[in-house]
Amino acid sequence: MIFIFFGPPGSGKGTQAQTLSQHFHLNYIATGNLLRAEVAAATNLGLKVKSYIDAGHFPPDTIIMDVFRSAFESKPDGDFLLDGIPRTLNQAKLLDVLFENMNLKITRVVDFDLSTEAVEDRILGRLSCSACGATYHKTFNPPKVSGVCDFCGEHALVSRSDDQKDVIKERLAIYSLETLPVLEYYKGQGIVTSIDASLPPEKVGEAIVKIIEESR
Ligand code: AP5
Repeated sequence: MIFIFFGPPGSGKGTQAQTLSQHFHLNYIATGNLLRAEVAAATNLGLKVKSYIDAGHFPPDTIIMDVFRSAFESKPDGDFLLDGIPRTLNQAKLLDVLFENMNLKITRVVDFDLSTEAVEDRILGRLSCSACGATYHKTFNPPKVSGVCDFCGEHALVSRSDDQKDVIKERLAIYSLETLPVLEYYKGQGIVTSIDASLPPEKVGEAIVKIIEESR
């Protein structure tokens, strides 16, 4: 089975994915995390994509699909949870071809529905673990022990370079222009379930558990 978490920046996809992928033993692939790891390691790829990410823009689809394919092929057989891909209609169609060649199908697209105002509040208070990428919020979702990652015990919780007010506006504009058409594409296939992402994390999690359990 393949689940896709879909929604605007800061809508809570990563927060839910980090616990639900463990709960359901799903292979978790988040293209944003993969790209940030390349940037942090200062690889050639990381140097190429850094300026795009910092500006809130998308690196070329060829780069994204190469990164995705290599992560996908390196995971064990089983079920998958994709977060942050596809983000363009072209990526969605390239994924269709990739999955078709492997006799795989997207099971369900979970659409995180959240207002622009809420997105801004969430992103501006976000902290990310510099070691494992787990996300927190200064007010809405703090770590159990202040300044320490619940998942890996790392002590450096930092703000992301693209979590700046002007960059958020750009990310939201590009989301509307490039990514929302992907949602229509999947709606046309009848595989989208929308959830109210403004609820507290536990409630959002419960709604997604139900969707995943009903699809199994
Ligand atoms: P990516 O990392 O995918 O960023 P994004 O989609 O913009 O999503 P975010 O990570 O910002 O938000 P999220 O929905 O995961 O929310 P979170 O759980 O953190 O991509 C970054 C960049 O990489 C892109 O801009 C692009 O440049 C590039 N990129 C990646 N994939 C690409 C692709 N396929 N094609 C092209 N370019 C690509 O939650 C946000 C905050 O809210 C946190 O602080 C959290 O604690 C808090 N929170 C979460 N849930 C709740 C809740 N229910 N109530 C209150 N607070 C909550």
